[in-house]
Amino acid sequence: MKKLTIAIDGYASTGKSSIAKKIAIKYGYIYINSGSMYRAVTLFAIENKILGLLNDNIDLFIEKLNRISINFRFSENNLISNVFLNNRNVEKDIGSLEVSNYVSKVAAIPEIRKEMVKLQRNVDRGKGVVMDGRDIGSVVFPDADIKLFLTASDAVRASRRFEEMINNGSSVSYDDILNNIRNRDKIDSSRSDSPLIIEKDAVVIDNSNMSIDEQINQINILINYKLAN
Ligand code: DC
Repeated sequence: MKKLTIAIDGYASTGKSSIAKKIAIKYGYIYINSGSMYRAVTLFAIENKILGLLNDNIDLFIEKLNRISINFRFSENNLISNVFLNNRNVEKDIGSLEVSNYVSKVAAIPEIRKEMVKLQRNVDRGKGVVMDGRDIGSVVFPDADIKLFLTASDAVRASRRFEEMINNGSSVSYDDILNNIRNRDKIDSSRSDSPLIIEKDAVVIDNSNMSIDEQINQINILINYKLAN
């Protein structure tokens, strides 16, 4: 059976990873959350107290990253990947608002993007891949079989994220989350290297008023069409 490469891009907190994970499980494809790699670099910078260099010495910031190793390990069913920073599973730590507040600045650095894109392209596409991020359809896999672009209103995205973080035991405010989402969208869309854009051949899904199942149903139609043609 043909195995597809599916690129899912879109604005912050549009549910890309929930959708990507479900699709990967349904079709037995590998799932990679590329944002978690940029988040792992940011976590390293926070823990090693080098974030200050982002403002005045990017070259030194990059130099300090030479002790960093980022990779994915697949969980028992071999599909869902967890990101490891220097051999430590950081899947939980990278979700904090502190990481979210700095990650777009880190992800705008071309030298860092170059390394991350290299790692992302290492995935075995022969097994079928679902990857989500900001530049997957435009830069990482411009030849992807299916390109999706997810969007939703700021308020809906902030409410969903707020609920998720509160349920996970974080103490965050709705306004801080809304500001973070707006700020990240702005930085991610306006950076000079690989900005977030809607590719001409992408299918745009505005999920402000859609359930996850409704989105999966639409995407299944696209996948079945691609598999049959
Ligand atoms: O998907 P996410 O929200 O976890 O991503 C975190 C940040 O990483 C996002 O604000 C921008 C950056 N990112 C990127 O620049 N390119 C990607 N392919 C994925 C994420």
